[in-house]
Amino acid sequence: MYEVKNCIDAGSEYCPCHLAKTGECIICSQLSGKSFCDCKNWKGTCILQEYHRNGNKPKSQRRTYNGTVIEKVYEDSGILKLKIKSSISLIKGLKRLGSFVFLRSESSQEFYDCPISILKVDEEEEAIVVAIEIRGIKTKTIEGINEKEDILIRGPFWNGIFGVKKLSELSNDKVIVMGRGIGIAPLIPVLKDLLRRNNKVFLILDSGEFKKDIFDGELSFFQGERGHIKVFDNGELSKELNECLLDLINTQGYSHIHISGPDILAYNVTKEYKNSLTLSCSNNAKMCCGEGVCGSCSSRYSGHIVKRLCKVQCEPNNLFEGRRLI
Ligand code: SF4
Ligand code: FES
Repeated sequence: MYEVKNCIDAGSEYCPCHLAKTGECIICSQLSGKSFCDCKNWKGTCILQEYHRNGNKPKSQRRTYNGTVIEKVYEDSGILKLKIKSSISLIKGLKRLGSFVFLRSESSQEFYDCPISILKVDEEEEAIVVAIEIRGIKTKTIEGINEKEDILIRGPFWNGIFGVKKLSELSNDKVIVMGRGIGIAPLIPVLKDLLRRNNKVFLILDSGEFKKDIFDGELSFFQGERGHIKVFDNGELSKELNECLLDLINTQGYSHIHISGPDILAYNVTKEYKNSLTLSCSNNAKMCCGEGVCGSCSSRYSGHIVKRLCKVQCEPNNLFEGRRLI
């Protein structure tokens, strides 16, 4: 029952980070208050040594890049799609599964930074495509940016998917990919990645409160089987979804499910199907700094455990088990 807990940034150019300096490192025992080496999850580099080599201070963290909006279209009323051109070094860093950025307008302050998942990376045009659900003050401010105007992008960040290691190891497997509402946008790079590795994919889509064919244009490359299913019924998994999943698991041999939608969907599927499917799901934590400092993404668990979900990488089972909701 040992929980494998990872840090998405461990061993990267951004590690060691501020958490090492304050004795809160997610992986290194000596940089989290212990006096001996108890590294259960070797990442190919000694974080303590890196910290000493760097003069006992954290490395510089992600920078904010300038970008230009080169295309602005509405996918549906309330969902804005932006194509943004920016530095190639940022664009290349966003090719990893689970990548996201923080966006804000040039005229707003840093606390307007809004975390947005990547829908598409276009290396030739040195651009990314993102889809934004217009909801509150941050997204409305971004909506105010027009074509050919500048936008600020902080990144690259990578912890947009829990269970990403398992997901990126799947090949020649049978995988169910399920998306609901705006969650359909970040499942598109996942789908492309799974198909590249020769997986057979069954796609389940529920557009939620949006029109039924949302993101159909972006999904036109997908020729496999798909079902448009209402996934919820009175807050529980619908009968139609359960029947579909049971058929895919028991009759057709599907063995993994990736869920890109609200936590309640991932939680219910985890509860019902954790013994018959391996799982991965989108990270829906509310993020502000993305660097493990501000605490807005923190979740509390029994045993006085706090996980900063912008950095902690864990399996969906361990994401919901023992989580305190109040
Ligand atoms: S928390 Fe992560 S990024 Fe920060 S020092 Fe530890 S392993 Fe490195
Ligand atoms: S978003 Fe600030 S600590 Fe995670």
